[in-house]
Amino acid sequence: MIYFLSLKERYFLYKKEIDNAIEGVLKRGWFILGKELEKFERDLAKQLQVSYAVGVNSGTDAIFLALKALEVGTGDEVITVANTATATISAIRMTGADVVFADIEEESFNINPELIEKKITKKTKVILPVHLYGYPANIDAIKKIARKHTLKVVEDAAQAQGAKYKNRYVGTQGNIGCFSFYPTKNLGAFGDAGAVITKNKRLAEIIRQLRNYGEISKYVNSREGVNSRLDEIQAAILNWGLPKLRLWNKRRTALANIYLKELKNLPIILPPVSDKERTGVWHLFVIRCNKRDRLKKYLRDRGIETAVHYPKPIFEQAAYKFMNYCGEDLPVTSKVMSEILSLPLYPELSHQEILEVCRVIKSFYK
Ligand SMILES: Cc1ncc(COP(=O)(O)O)c(C=O)c1O
Repeated sequence: MIYFLSLKERYFLYKKEIDNAIEGVLKRGWFILGKELEKFERDLAKQLQVSYAVGVNSGTDAIFLALKALEVGTGDEVITVANTATATISAIRMTGADVVFADIEEESFNINPELIEKKITKKTKVILPVHLYGYPANIDAIKKIARKHTLKVVEDAAQAQGAKYKNRYVGTQGNIGCFSFYPTKNLGAFGDAGAVITKNKRLAEIIRQLRNYGEISKYVNSREGVNSRLDEIQAAILNWGLPKLRLWNKRRTALANIYLKELKNLPIILPPVSDKERTGVWHLFVIRCNKRDRLKKYLRDRGIETAVHYPKPIFEQAAYKFMNYCGEDLPVTSKVMSEILSLPLYPELSHQEILEVCRVIKSFYK
């Protein structure tokens, strides 16, 4: 059996280091807002070359608190894509703002900057690109539009930690960048965790307050906040994992390169690869094919798990029927989503396993 993803190998591979990290927190007996989180925030900011990182409870909260800090709320509009994790949309909706969808570039799966402007109204406050599958969106073009219309940019970099656009880390170019350390992410915690990064001291301070009931100091609440703290055990796991992220991303790239080489002559469309401007980190390896469901079943019948990210555009989910929108102006999103298939890809997979997936895919097309 080749699983789409398996998270336990990593624990057994590094058991001693991980146990030590957790034990350190238990022995210290300090579980919330302590030394581990301080270190993680410092090191994350340093690694991404930004001034501030603030740990929060999840990637969803990172986006929610980023938008709150920018005073996005009821009556405002946020422009994003419909081919994303529901979390992106939940986070926007948690602020009370409305979601406006823009179509994507067919090659990159990311928001198409050329189509953003016609979605801007008087209510628009933020453009929120998602760097999907670990591949950078065209942030320069997005920023240019934002500047022209005095809008803010919040980057959903949940899937793209370590990716670069023109040699700058994804998440660092908007007003605020948002990360998730959900266990399956390129840098995963062993539970929920997320972070917000920014170059703006004031925004970092506000998010620091918002994540802790809005406290400016003990029992003094400056603004209405929530509880969205990144706990010490998760922070200790992340402190252990952060220095390994580059290695894990390299490993993902090496495995992705096998897929790219082996699958190149088949009637499928391969995912976008790194070029002079964009360096992706292969959070997912997503192919496009017109017999998607048949191929998925064929692989499953031969012991290979795959997944679809995501099965439907957000507005087709029952939860978002109230939007009363059927994607009539998102032809690329609709087309691509019926063709996508995510193949197994995580650092602990072997070259042989990837080759086996390729062999079975080739036999399907024979
Ligand atoms: C694109 C995207 N945005 C946001 C999130 C939300 O992150 P979390 O699950 O940590 O809340 C995720 C991950 O699930 C994601 O993939």
